[in-house]
Amino acid sequence: MSRILLIVGGGIAAYKAAELIRHARRAGHPVTPVLTAGGAHFVTPMSLAALAESPVYTSLWDLKDESEMGHIQLSRAADLVLVCPATADLLAKMAAGIADDLATTLLLATDKPVVVAPAMNVRMWLHAATQANVATLRARGVTVLGPDEGDMACGEHGPGRLPEPDDILRRIAPMLEPDAAISPVEAQPLAGRHVLVTAGPTHEPIDPVRVIANRSSGKQGFAIAAAAARAGARVTLVAGPVALPTPGGVARIDVETAQQMADAVLAALPADVAILVAAVADWRIANPAATKMKKGGGPPTLAFAPNPDILATLAERPDRPRLLVGFAAETDDVVANATAKRAAKKADWIVANDVSGDVMGGTDNRVHLVSAAGVEDWPEASKDAVAAQLIERIAKEIA
Ligand code: C5P
Repeated sequence: MSRILLIVGGGIAAYKAAELIRHARRAGHPVTPVLTAGGAHFVTPMSLAALAESPVYTSLWDLKDESEMGHIQLSRAADLVLVCPATADLLAKMAAGIADDLATTLLLATDKPVVVAPAMNVRMWLHAATQANVATLRARGVTVLGPDEGDMACGEHGPGRLPEPDDILRRIAPMLEPDAAISPVEAQPLAGRHVLVTAGPTHEPIDPVRVIANRSSGKQGFAIAAAAARAGARVTLVAGPVALPTPGGVARIDVETAQQMADAVLAALPADVAILVAAVADWRIANPAATKMKKGGGPPTLAFAPNPDILATLAERPDRPRLLVGFAAETDDVVANATAKRAAKKADWIVANDVSGDVMGGTDNRVHLVSAAGVEDWPEASKDAVAAQLIERIAKEIA
């Protein structure tokens, strides 16, 4: 049993806090709700109190009898403080140390682990101010869950949705183990770092309806972005056309062509680490047709032009990320080709994988890590496990 102090911020997702209380109590964890003034516009103290079977605190001045339940005591009687939903305003106040109402005062006074589950409009989430605030909080040891990507109440689509209550509870479960010492969900060795990841294929247009593509699914790159976010990094994921959900806590930029991917990567600099997993087309069609090409003209002759090499470009820049990691998908002489590629592109590491089997689109991967120190052969593992191991190595390298 762990006592959860649940701070409910003002947003349409506040209704999910009610559901969260039910899940937490079913799992045996008592919940004390604190409702901000904004939160009270979306859920009533009465409904939270009924579900929590606990008083709901809404104002500093509720704590009339300081000797009975002062704000310091309230914040410390809990084993875990969960802010759900955490609005952009709450995150900003937490980052700045502002304590101008009960919720923010409790957050400043607590000595317990704090978890925030942000939910807001996609533009507000992606705003540099919010991203900086989240990075500050992560660097201070606050655990950030989500947000998820999806359709939003405001009609937009993108990262900003509160994860589902059962998912939140599952993710904080390790912090709630019965009688276990409370520790952060996961170590956050990349807190305060910016990690830039490319993933997926690129699509190079032939005409308005046809493209040259490749079989990259984006799974390995997305798994790496997710692992970096779990390790506390601020993550920018530049994704080619793939059908994958955005991992929680990751800022995603969707692109189609290699040129757009290169532009997005350069615009996202500076970064501490860049992990270029995308299968970028080496060539684009020099002059894509403006209208759909017709069959009648006979087989077309396509003229190609070289695409920018994003990895090699990054390696030459004055603001080169401190650790530059490339991927090499090879069907033959995997390690020899990867070793040559590391030198040619001036990358620090190349993760080489044999794609002669069903790696592209599959769930498992067998990779070799090629660095200045030599070649390591990693055992075959799921793409998630490869991602976790790679992020662990990266965290050690830049520690
Ligand atoms: O395609 P290639 O095997 O050369 O890819 C090796 C590495 O270079 C990968 O990390 C890939 O993401 C990167 N790359 C790139 N820009 C390109 C081609 C490849 O960043 N135009």
